Amino acid sequence: MEIIIADTYEEMSELAADMIERQLLRKPSSVLGLATGSTPVGTYKVLVRKHKEEGLDFSKVITFNLDEYLDLSPSHSQSYRYFMDHNLFNHINVDPKNIHVPYGHASEVEEFCEWYEEEIKRAGGIDLQILGIGADGHIAFNEPGSSLGSRTRLKTLTQQTIEDNARFFDNPEEVPRFAITMGVGTILEAKQIILLANGAKKADIVAQALEGPITAQVSASALQMHRQVTVILDAEAGSKLKRADYYRWVFQEKKRLVPRLVGKVT
Ligand code: F6R
Repeated sequence: MEIIIADTYEEMSELAADMIERQLLRKPSSVLGLATGSTPVGTYKVLVRKHKEEGLDFSKVITFNLDEYLDLSPSHSQSYRYFMDHNLFNHINVDPKNIHVPYGHASEVEEFCEWYEEEIKRAGGIDLQILGIGADGHIAFNEPGSSLGSRTRLKTLTQQTIEDNARFFDNPEEVPRFAITMGVGTILEAKQIILLANGAKKADIVAQALEGPITAQVSASALQMHRQVTVILDAEAGSKLKRADYYRWVFQEKKRLVPRLVGKVT
């Protein structure tokens, strides 16, 4: 696992976008796994800038989003499809037919989840997966107790996640209780993963996930088993890590001596 503690949210976002850019330059038809939430907004802004000002090309990219609330239509302003359209897809040249966001209105949810898994396989698997982390350690909507081998399925959100998400809704009663989410096992099959976290509110859970035991009680801890994970934090989110000095030193040395190693597990 590579752990980068950036100074600011902006630096975190630039580093993540640079890694995605390098992936697209290496393989223009990359399959990207994408997250919503407040964390990756800055990264998406940088990608939009790179597309508009430097011609970063998304025309062959295939995308799969991690999750979507059950029963929210794609046009609902709090749906994850709406979020992705407004923060990224509408501003880049991704082909709409290559975009996959779980469909919250699926009538047969189980069949839909199986189909989603199959589509990921048909696309050749996810090359680069972007993740955020919930205050309870969830990645996608894999709440504490989710099997580390879980696949795309319907999941009940925890009280904490419902409360965390309430800030986006006018009325707390409107916050969905269920979501369709990729499983931990689905996520672990991505060839490369970037986990992003910012802000003091994430510091405790980041420390548990990265330096604590691997446990289904903290879904993000499963990332310790993956071979190519880069965690990019801002200073606040990284403030409770015991080995922060070591991670900072590694990052500085890579930048100074072999910059192309930044974003690689070494
Ligand atoms: C979103 C997702 C969630 C978020 C997590 C953090 O697609 O899968 O796991 O990444 O809830 O949310 P923010 O970034 O809003 O703190």
